[in-house]
Amino acid sequence: MNNRRNFLKTACKPIVLAALGIPLIESCSTENDSSNIDILNNNQPGQNSSRNQLEINLDDDRFKDLKQIGGWLNFTAENILLVRISDEEIRVFDNACPHQGARNLWSFDGSNFTCSNHNNSFSASCSGSLRCYETNLEGNILTIEF
Ligand code: FES
Repeated sequence: MNNRRNFLKTACKPIVLAALGIPLIESCSTENDSSNIDILNNNQPGQNSSRNQLEINLDDDRFKDLKQIGGWLNFTAENILLVRISDEEIRVFDNACPHQGARNLWSFDGSNFTCSNHNNSFSASCSGSLRCYETNLEGNILTIEF
């Protein structure tokens, strides 16, 4: 009896109603779901972003690996993989692995990204399996279109 009373006091209301046979569609989450939007709109130094576009100032120290050809970066704050192809081109991909979606297990060998979750490799070409975004590089400003 005490367990049932504790359950009713602490359980989420929709779960209690569902347990009583009363259907209700509602989320039990109490977190503010705007956190993803905040990341995109809360510009960091070196970044200027909106929902459809992200500007990166390559002078920002976080992007120093992109100064050299072959340099790459998994920018997890925006879920993108970036690789310097030439002086004029930086390619940008979604960092979700096409296999099962892992985002933070990447390595790069100069032409392919490998996800160590199951060791699948994907070409750093925009015609490969990784989702490629359009980019424009002007000086040290990289603009990414999502
Ligand atoms: S999730 Fe990346 S290889 Fe399986």
